[in-house]
Amino acid sequence: SAMAEERPLAIVTCTAPVNIAVIKYWGKRDNDLILPINSSLSVTLHQDQLKTTTTAATSRDFTKDRLWLNGEEVDVGHPRLQACLQEVRRLARKRRGGSSDDESPLNLSYKVHVATKNNFPTAAGLASSAAGYACLVSALARLYGVEGELSEVARRGSGSACRSMLGGFVEWRRGQRPDGKDSLAQQVAPETHWPELRVLVLVVSGEKKQVASTAGMQTSVDTSPLLKHRAEVVVPERLELMMRHIRERDFEGFGQLTMKDSNQFHATCLDTFPPIFYLNDLSRHIIALAHRFNAHHGSTKVAYTFDAGPNAVIFTLADTVAEFVEVVRRSFPPATNGDQFIRGLPVGSAALPEELLAAVVTKPVPGAVRYILHTKPGPGPQFVDDPSQHLLGADGLPC
Ligand code: DP6
Repeated sequence: SAMAEERPLAIVTCTAPVNIAVIKYWGKRDNDLILPINSSLSVTLHQDQLKTTTTAATSRDFTKDRLWLNGEEVDVGHPRLQACLQEVRRLARKRRGGSSDDESPLNLSYKVHVATKNNFPTAAGLASSAAGYACLVSALARLYGVEGELSEVARRGSGSACRSMLGGFVEWRRGQRPDGKDSLAQQVAPETHWPELRVLVLVVSGEKKQVASTAGMQTSVDTSPLLKHRAEVVVPERLELMMRHIRERDFEGFGQLTMKDSNQFHATCLDTFPPIFYLNDLSRHIIALAHRFNAHHGSTKVAYTFDAGPNAVIFTLADTVAEFVEVVRRSFPPATNGDQFIRGLPVGSAALPEELLAAVVTKPVPGAVRYILHTKPGPGPQFVDDPSQHLLGADGLPC
């Protein structure tokens, strides 16, 4: 109660990144354990631009588990949230050899309070469940002193979340076991491996309600013969190839395969019955623009990829960013409402040669792209030491 003297609180804060798959995960072989039908590979994005922050606290005074998302209290009954909580507590119990009757605030029978927020607008439609679950699991594990392999726990929140448990280039190996013990994320290369690699997130206007990935991929598994072929034949080959391109920092190969894999994912969506459409006219406009840009240069300078929403993610190298950003600005002239069109890492200015403009920029569509977020590969989850950064106060409530 408010009158009672506050008892000590165990509290930790973590941050976790967003990741973008270049070999896509689409389809489960086990819905409860979240086991995929194919391995996938992603790039972890830098948390300076996109991150989730989560504070977890526990105390004898808490009467129930509670969770706040961006300040709003939400129901903790969600099965995936419960699975993550239970798994972390189980690992903590295992670690302590069963004893949980001490008086410290870390007693495993005490309830937890969790507060979480994103440093990017939820309305931007950037996949936040991966960062969200990676952050939740990191914070709970730290709170209970659990170390080691945690991607298996994050996977229970959202499949793609297991890849946000590591920085740089990350493979999620599908595994073979029915219990999922071998369905884990593994770092292929750290974020420092390819210093020139850049990421441009084209946040588009006119957000519409999409088919959620969980439901969409279930229908695809049930109905798409192309998805079956993709999982059995195409992805195993592509994964090997993609790892080689990354190892060799071969942008030509990396970029082409990234685009092809995004296109095949969307082809399996069209092959789903009833079909699912995540790409729209604007996505197709951006795809065509990227291909004209590459054709003009005679090599792969930019590579697009799209997930279960309309935002485009572009991979490129640092020396191409300024020119391509200018091409996007000319193709989708921003509405002059004072909003920052370019956000994130600084972008230099580029004058476009006449022939590039003529060859690449066709009919401009004003206002179609809301803004461009410039970022790069980054590290995995981080612990926040500064107590002023906690999202919960000494009373265990959001501050
Ligand atoms: C298209 O991880 O959101 O972004 O496991 O059901 O939570 P659940 O799905 P989720 O699916 C992500 C699908 C994707 C491709 C990818 O990130 O690999």
